[in-house]
Amino acid sequence: MAHVIAITNQKGGVGKTTTAINLGAALAEMGHYTLLGDLDPQGGLSLGLGLAAHDLDLTIYNILTDTRIPVAGITHHVRAHLDLLPSNIDLAVAEFQLIAQMGREYILREALQSVRAQYEYIVLDCPPSLNLLTVNALTAADAIIVPLQVEYFAMRGLEQLMDVYSRVRRRLNPDLEIIGIVPTMVDVRRTNDQQILQEVTKAYPGMLLDVYVKESIKFADAPRHQRSILELDPRHDGARAYRKLAHLVLQYYGEYVEPEPELPEEPAEAAVAAVTTEPAAVETFDFAAPEAEKIDPPIQIAGTLEITPAAAQSLELAAPTPAPNGSHIEIVTVESLSPMVRQDADLSLQPESGQAAPVKPVEPRIDIPPSEIPFPPPPRPAGDSPNGL
Ligand SMILES: Nc1ncnc2c1ncn2[C@@H]1O[C@H](COP(=O)(O)OP(=O)(O)OP(=O)(O)O)[C@@H](O)[C@H]1O
Ligand SMILES: [Mg+2]
Repeated sequence: MAHVIAITNQKGGVGKTTTAINLGAALAEMGHYTLLGDLDPQGGLSLGLGLAAHDLDLTIYNILTDTRIPVAGITHHVRAHLDLLPSNIDLAVAEFQLIAQMGREYILREALQSVRAQYEYIVLDCPPSLNLLTVNALTAADAIIVPLQVEYFAMRGLEQLMDVYSRVRRRLNPDLEIIGIVPTMVDVRRTNDQQILQEVTKAYPGMLLDVYVKESIKFADAPRHQRSILELDPRHDGARAYRKLAHLVLQYYGEYVEPEPELPEEPAEAAVAAVTTEPAAVETFDFAAPEAEKIDPPIQIAGTLEITPAAAQSLELAAPTPAPNGSHIEIVTVESLSPMVRQDADLSLQPESGQAAPVKPVEPRIDIPPSEIPFPPPPRPAGDSPNGL
């Protein structure tokens, strides 16, 4: 049976629709069958995922105003594991039509019953008001998530919302719970943001979720491209935040799984090629050293390995004893080695006078503490989209 979550805040433009789309996308990305329900006549959720809802004859309006219409006939399959119950401007008049109906607050709840078994999560995007559509969403839901734009009047809006929440719980839906508050459009550099978050923590202890969504222009781009931010830029901070929110939701319902490993900044392939772990505390680079291979006759490796041009730095040898075939050089310190130097390095080995036992440095390897790894991240391969949506 699907868990039904309403994304609600009567204040406009706080990130409800963005949260609904991206939470839905994150749950779907993790393989959970999710239905997104658009309860806003603006239809932002539908449009944001590329469904031209204004052209549709059947929308959520129809199931609210005619209980004979099955919900399953109105849903649209928009992504893998993700369906959408669209809305358009027709919904704007639904409220007036609902007022006269018996049990008007329960209509959505009853309509969703027929599809609850088909999904694991149903996420409802509420309109920016505390009208009958929102009340229907709160009555249909078993929990709410409150996106909170971190700004001066945030607390006031929260008080009103909590008041409505309590009333819905008392009169209509005693099981309604609060998953938590998600700060949106956060700028960690703004001290004001931190103060407001502290106030929220104080006024609503335990309600602030352990995730926040930073302010980013990408969130305005995503709906223009009719994609979630997870699809637009899977490695973006915002995508990570919404994945984390999805994990918190799973955790809330006791369906938590170990988080996916964070996507590496560099493509995995390149990282494997460049780095082996030996010894454990130190990353080992196989240094591409075409110049070194040309050194002939073989020379003693002990003392200093120098990288030219002159701007390059000296690397001290840790172990003056070379590996038996001379292919391995241990280095412990790197002063600073710029990516430029690495790319243009004309590697050559300076023999120390009086040394014997010549060996040939076929593939010198340089051990560099991870914090000093100087290599630039390689370019991301084209079409690298691990989200699979
Ligand atoms: N983290 C963010 N950083 C920057 N912009 C954001 C962020 N989240 C959302 N936005 C942008 O803010 C605007 C409002 O967001 P959104 O539509 O999700 O809010 P809403 O609460 O659903 O609004 P409404 O109340 O009108 O339905 C949109 O243009 C959206 O792209
Ligand atoms: Mg909205």
